[in-house]
Amino acid sequence: MWQEVRRQKTWQRKTSADWNKRAAGFARRHKDSVYVKEFLKKLPLSPTMSVLDMGCGPGTLTIPLAREVKEITAVDFSSEMLAILTERAAGEGLDNITTRQGAWEDDWQALGLGQYDLIIASRSLAVDDLKGALDKLRQAARGWVFIGDRVGSGPFDPAMFAAIGRPFHPGPDYIYTVNILYQMGIHARLDFIDLPPGRSYKTRKEAISSWAWMFHDLTAAENDKLNHHLSERLAENKEGYWYLRDELCPSWAVISWRKKTG
Ligand SMILES: C[S@@+](CC[C@H](N)C(=O)[O-])C[C@H]1O[C@@H](n2cnc3c(N)ncnc32)[C@H](O)[C@@H]1O
Repeated sequence: MWQEVRRQKTWQRKTSADWNKRAAGFARRHKDSVYVKEFLKKLPLSPTMSVLDMGCGPGTLTIPLAREVKEITAVDFSSEMLAILTERAAGEGLDNITTRQGAWEDDWQALGLGQYDLIIASRSLAVDDLKGALDKLRQAARGWVFIGDRVGSGPFDPAMFAAIGRPFHPGPDYIYTVNILYQMGIHARLDFIDLPPGRSYKTRKEAISSWAWMFHDLTAAENDKLNHHLSERLAENKEGYWYLRDELCPSWAVISWRKKTG
């Protein structure tokens, strides 16, 4: 069923090159976001822990986590995301982070990954083989696993698709992940993070290019429609940032389990 619904999705999976282009803007917008604070609150942390952050991005979670645990391995297939993470870690004098450039699809042993007390995979589980990816998490887990997964349309805004005249099917969300885990014999816990509206952009141009990034191969006509739609909805706040007036507030599912020992 997951594969069937995934085939219907009308958004394209992003490559590492796509994420490289997004890295700087993503890093700025997501540092200290409500999502980050709420996700961190749910983790069972201890100063002796080893952690794996899979699909770590620019270190939105890696950096605050590194202050709380013994060591953390941060993996992402985007070199630009890892470069920002490395720079931030150096800026904060953190020396317990190891970065690896790699993908869900790679051989994790060849990447030098082992087993960890805590694994997080936050908003990064965009794969063609979900069961294979979950199995990798299971094998690398010595203790807890926490996944941040999409609820419904997630960060996509159906109104944007309508505005440019494209159909919108979000594809499978967290409920499939929970059920595939069940088929694997894992009875996961489920929690949610409900976000307030809050995406802000330094300039109108950054807002428009950020939304354009979500689409694949925008035609000139579609680009015009997107620009027009956004121009009507973008407003400047007191701090001089741009935000969408009627932005949808996405929720994220937090799926977790603890490996049984013995
Ligand atoms: C939305 S960002 C999330 C970053 C961070 N985990 C967070 O929650 O703020 C998604 C990240 O997953 C990475 N990613 C996407 N697909 C991936 C794949 N197949 N293998 C490794 N990393 C991937 C992207 O490069 C990007 O940095």
